[in-house]
Amino acid sequence: MEQELKKLREETDKRIEKIKDSAALNKLYLNLFGASGSFTKLLKTLKTLPAEKRPAVGKLANEIKKQIEDKFSRQRSIIEKVKIDEWLDVTAPGLPPQIGHLHIVTQAISEISRIFERVGFTRVRYPEVEYEWYAFESLNMPANHPARDDFETFFLDTPSIPKMGQLVLSPHTSSGQVREMKRLKKPPIRMINIAKCYRPNWDISHTPMFHQFEGLVVDTGINITHLKGTMDYFAREFFGKDRKTRLRPFHFQFTEPSFEVDISCGVCLGKGKLTDGNNCRFCKDGWLELGGSGMVHPNVLKMGNIDPVKYSGFAFGWGVERTYMMKSGTKLDDIRLLYSNDIRFLEQF
Ligand code: PHE
Repeated sequence: MEQELKKLREETDKRIEKIKDSAALNKLYLNLFGASGSFTKLLKTLKTLPAEKRPAVGKLANEIKKQIEDKFSRQRSIIEKVKIDEWLDVTAPGLPPQIGHLHIVTQAISEISRIFERVGFTRVRYPEVEYEWYAFESLNMPANHPARDDFETFFLDTPSIPKMGQLVLSPHTSSGQVREMKRLKKPPIRMINIAKCYRPNWDISHTPMFHQFEGLVVDTGINITHLKGTMDYFAREFFGKDRKTRLRPFHFQFTEPSFEVDISCGVCLGKGKLTDGNNCRFCKDGWLELGGSGMVHPNVLKMGNIDPVKYSGFAFGWGVERTYMMKSGTKLDDIRLLYSNDIRFLEQF
């Protein structure tokens, strides 16, 4: 095979020297190195050699390929009437390396953390692999409670242990509420818990892994006006100063009363209609749905060893992806794009 390689190089050298136009040069290149080119074919016979000879011959093949390629580029510059030595302009700016940036979800997480940290919230994280007790029981959802179905859950194949239950992938950041109460032992609590959550859904508006940010405030004298004020503060800081929120009655097991938080639409400014009289297509009647919230249920405070007579609190938990998309006005036809790592998509943010 060594002989054949050397022969191929000599023959090719001669042929290259005779070529006078770049099209022919390209054609010859393909005839050698294309999928069924003569060099490629020769290289394929490498595996028929005895194992101990392969490394040396492989190395030779590489060298010869490099020599042939050099010959090609020299001939190419002769054709183009440029001498290699003259062509090299050392002062020419180099090609700038591609510079990456943080993923949009990471950007959103730091922005959200900063907004809440400015008003005294502490960023925490709690386990993604969680006991059923923290994910449900501690939140007023005993085993077999139908509300658990709303938080469809991935179960780990582990034995169930007394009181704590089985291990699950945490389906919401609310699993951190009682953990935070236990960590601090005593109010005041101002937690912002941002973490990955998991639910077995996979379609254009759901990924099995997504992020939520959960706020929890517990102290003396906390009431709904604090909840509403915090929501408005967030809406102004995150979405812009003319945005407002509204609370719509809802139901969660772990808050009472419970609300869905809506934010006024940034396109029609809460009117539901555009200036030309047509209905706004971005929202429903001027409002967009942010996520759940409510006043912490007394049973949940008790689970965290906090006296519900002395203390009260509010909580909210929203999807990071959804909230961020609402801000940028990006209408993603398929939310799964966020996690498909397609650089053409990601570099836009
Ligand atoms: N955990 C709820 C969900 O995932 C949201 C929520 C958080 C509601 C806190 C009320 C209070 O939908």
